[in-house]
Amino acid sequence: MKLIDGKKIANQIKEEIAVEVEQIKEQGGKIPHLAALIVGHDGASETYVGHKEKACIQVGFNSTVIRYEDDVAEDTLLRKVYDLNNDPEIDGFIVQLPMPKHISEQKIIEAIDPKKDVDGFHPVNLGRMVIGLPSYVSATPAGIIELIKRYNIETSGKDVVVIGRSNIVGKPISILLGQKANPGNATVTLTHSRTKNLKEIVSRADIVIAALGAAEFLTADMIKDGATVIDVGITRVKSDKTKSGWKLLGDVKFDEVAEKTEYITPVPGGVGPMTIVSLLQNTLKASKGEIYPRL
Ligand code: GUN
Repeated sequence: MKLIDGKKIANQIKEEIAVEVEQIKEQGGKIPHLAALIVGHDGASETYVGHKEKACIQVGFNSTVIRYEDDVAEDTLLRKVYDLNNDPEIDGFIVQLPMPKHISEQKIIEAIDPKKDVDGFHPVNLGRMVIGLPSYVSATPAGIIELIKRYNIETSGKDVVVIGRSNIVGKPISILLGQKANPGNATVTLTHSRTKNLKEIVSRADIVIAALGAAEFLTADMIKDGATVIDVGITRVKSDKTKSGWKLLGDVKFDEVAEKTEYITPVPGGVGPMTIVSLLQNTLKASKGEIYPRL
């Protein structure tokens, strides 16, 4: 069993980005600038945005956080999105989800200029990704692809089974790994809550991507010897063994599954640290006009 060390790779990539930002500064170029719009005081959202801000500072990006109270009107947010779309100082921005119930997340996402949609949530970016055009790929699937690349994990001709069909993980990673690309060229099966014979399907997989959001769902009896397992789950559960009183569990029963695998990602320290790095990579691409060339 070889551990895929997402934390180590994420730190390496942050160093690479920091070097590039330093060069941009020396040449008098524009420093990449990421903005985040956050509504209310949801604990997880505060944590994510805090991590994103810290990561921006670490690599030398400029970072702006725009905050609104829970009762903000949808129109106010839409107007802010238009302002950010038209602000030449901001290279990319994200709207932290979830939003309060009276706000249409879809409407807000669709108001974002795809050229600045570094979360890759806009239908234009998703559509471009599906047909293999340059696009912003959302953080988690982009982070998984980066790990596969950096560990030289062969995907061509392999059987990949993805568990979970969310718009931000399961669906996009299924498409990416089926693309004529490297990583890619895999035979992908996307499974979900209505899949029959899940165990039988998963047990044929060379690579399993568990992204269903159910703690310790994937057990050793479900996978074949020598499979690679990528765990996208993060469920916080109470624990009397940690100082904080909480621990994080993945979608994989790590100890028993790890023994059968070739490669496996741990939770925490696997896919998680890669997601913020993907956002930084997308912001750097935005500032360089790599996805949508500037006129
Ligand atoms: N909420 C949970 N994850 C994410 C993310 O990657 N982007 C945004 N905007 N909101 C989130």
